[in-house]
Amino acid sequence: MQFDPDSLNARDMYQWMVSTVLPRPIAWVSTVNEAGVSNLAPFSFFNAVCARPPTLMFCPANDRFGRKKDTLINIEATGQFVLHLVSFGLVEPMNATAATLPPGESEFERFHVDSVPSVKVRPPRIPSAPVAFECQLDRIVRISEGPIGGNAVFGRIVHVHVNDAILGPDGRPDPSAIDLVSRGGGEFYFRLGERFALERPE
Ligand SMILES: Cc1cc2nc3c(=O)[nH]c(=O)nc-3n(C[C@H](O)[C@H](O)[C@H](O)COP(=O)(O)O)c2cc1C
Repeated sequence: MQFDPDSLNARDMYQWMVSTVLPRPIAWVSTVNEAGVSNLAPFSFFNAVCARPPTLMFCPANDRFGRKKDTLINIEATGQFVLHLVSFGLVEPMNATAATLPPGESEFERFHVDSVPSVKVRPPRIPSAPVAFECQLDRIVRISEGPIGGNAVFGRIVHVHVNDAILGPDGRPDPSAIDLVSRGGGEFYFRLGERFALERPE
């Protein structure tokens, strides 16, 4: 089959995209508002961008009423966030923090997610996350306004935390030790599966 995306509404197109662009790692993002209240939410439209400078990108869409999500509002106000990777042991609290809470209520407190102060940014860090990237806002690219409008947040990594338990004998992260979870379509998630090597051409 084939189709023109203009023939679908945004919700249906979203379903096609999340069922085909796979697997998507999950960015579990902590922020604070100007008053210092913390916020935590997962985003699977997420990936690495480049290493010089080290840059990550994730995409908080507007909600169906066209309102910005708290994560985006906080980053616009403070220019900082901490992006955590999610291992299998953290899926339940990660999923819980996708709930919509009033702006003044912290998901850390509501869902009893442990936090510690970060080193270089104000948003707190989740110590049980396998990897946490403290980020300073690079730029926000507004893809579209209104309901389900798109926003891409680019952040420069200014500090990295890696849980010693995921380090291999060579001192580098062992991908299988992270037990990383990624998002599928609908309610589905993936754990990393079979690993194989392939030699690169010159
Ligand atoms: C695994 C997972 C991945 C998600 N990915 C995204 C995403 O990429 N973009 C987005 O706008 N919302 C995504 N959501 C929904 C947000 O987490 C949800 O709207 C959340 O309430 C936003 O919180 P905030 O308003 O505190 O920023 C995802 C939810 C889950 C459970």
